[in-house]
Amino acid sequence: MEINYKKHWNNLYNSKKIEEVSWYQKVPQSSLDLIISSKLKKDDPIIDIGGGDSFLVDFLLENSFTNITVLDISNNAIERAKLRLGNQANDVKWIISDIKEFIPKEKYALWHDRAVFHFMSVKEVDSYYSNLLSGLKDNAKLVLATFSENGPEKCCGLNVSKYSIQQLVDVFDKDFIEEKSENTIHKTPSGKKQAFSFIKFIKK
Ligand SMILES: C[S@@+](CC[C@H](N)C(=O)[O-])C[C@H]1O[C@@H](n2cnc3c(N)ncnc32)[C@H](O)[C@@H]1O
Repeated sequence: MEINYKKHWNNLYNSKKIEEVSWYQKVPQSSLDLIISSKLKKDDPIIDIGGGDSFLVDFLLENSFTNITVLDISNNAIERAKLRLGNQANDVKWIISDIKEFIPKEKYALWHDRAVFHFMSVKEVDSYYSNLLSGLKDNAKLVLATFSENGPEKCCGLNVSKYSIQQLVDVFDKDFIEEKSENTIHKTPSGKKQAFSFIKFIKK
């Protein structure tokens, strides 16, 4: 049976509070380190793919970035993030879309994705990849975080693909050069450990 992903993620956001979801992070430190070290201009366009209601956008605003887009398949997630931010939500562009169907209308200087790419099947990676390429400026940065080779087999009731740092390099090296990478362990609210590969690429 085909999965309705929008419904799947909306249900998840309906049934759990922000601090109960397995991917919850009070401070998205690894993402922030990779973004801040990119030395972007404050008005460079940044997009967070599958940002959900994560706190990354709050920290980007706190760091005075002025051109932030958050995209997510779940309208519930976006509504929650907007509610939390209050008036500041007006300073962010919000897009409700499946990343596989996203036709970017602007070119981003930085594309961030934590814990979305690993849900793509082999076939879906192609659509993701071509949408990514069409949405990036020259020399743009790509910050990706996926489950590593030691990560879980499934997440949120869905199958995942696990990637070592080298496997991510192999997927992206036609168009991107690795700049920085690290393996991290995420502790879920229920205390489970999830191994991640974090990598920052620069577009060739
Ligand atoms: C595991 S959560 C990670 C959320 C956030 N990036 C973080 O690190 O806290 C995955 C997020 O991606 C969104 N998502 C899943 N599949 C997607 C797709 N095909 N297109 C856009 N968003 C998607 C979900 O709604 C959810 O918000």
